[in-house]
Amino acid sequence: MKDVHELPVNRLNLILKLLLEKAKAKSNIDRDQPLEWSIMHMYSCSQLAKLLAFKRNLNPEIAGIAGAIHDLAIIETGIFKNHGPDGAKLVKDFLYNYNDIHGLENGKVTEDEIAIIIDATIHHSDKINYSNNEYVELIKDVDSFDRYLHGKETYEFYIERTNRVLKDLNYPLL
Ligand SMILES: [Fe+2]
Repeated sequence: MKDVHELPVNRLNLILKLLLEKAKAKSNIDRDQPLEWSIMHMYSCSQLAKLLAFKRNLNPEIAGIAGAIHDLAIIETGIFKNHGPDGAKLVKDFLYNYNDIHGLENGKVTEDEIAIIIDATIHHSDKINYSNNEYVELIKDVDSFDRYLHGKETYEFYIERTNRVLKDLNYPLL
C-alpha cells in the first residue's frame, strides 16, 4: 500500500465550484425543486458516481462530472419537465466554457468525455429502459440511489436501480 493517494479529480472539483456558484446566483422563487435540493443532489450524486465507477471499472472523474452536472437544466431554468434532453446544450456550453477559461491551467475535458457526459445527461430520466452505455446506466442508478438515501419515496424502477447499486456494494437489497 502506498503512503499517499490522490485521486485525479482536478477538473471535477473546479466544475463543482463553478456549478455551485451558478446555483447560488439563482432565485428560489418559482422553481419545481428548491435550489437546496439541487445543490445537495449535485454533490451526493457526484460522490456516489465515483464510488460506483470504481466498482464498474469506469473513470471516476468523468462519472463524477456526469453525476454533478446531469441536472444542470433544473439549476438553470427551475423546470423539471424534459430537463434531461434540455440539459444537452447547457452541459455542452458549460463544458466548452470551462475548457476555454480553465482548460489550459486545470486540464481540458476532451470531446469524447464531453460526449459521454452529454449522453448521460440526456438519457438519465429514462429509468425504465437499459442501454449498453455504462455511463448512462451509472447515472440512472446513482440518481435513483441518491433519491433513496435522501428519503424520497422509492418505487418501481427506482427500486430496481437502487438495488443494482446495493448489489454492486454487496449490501442487502430492498
Ligand atoms: Fe434529473
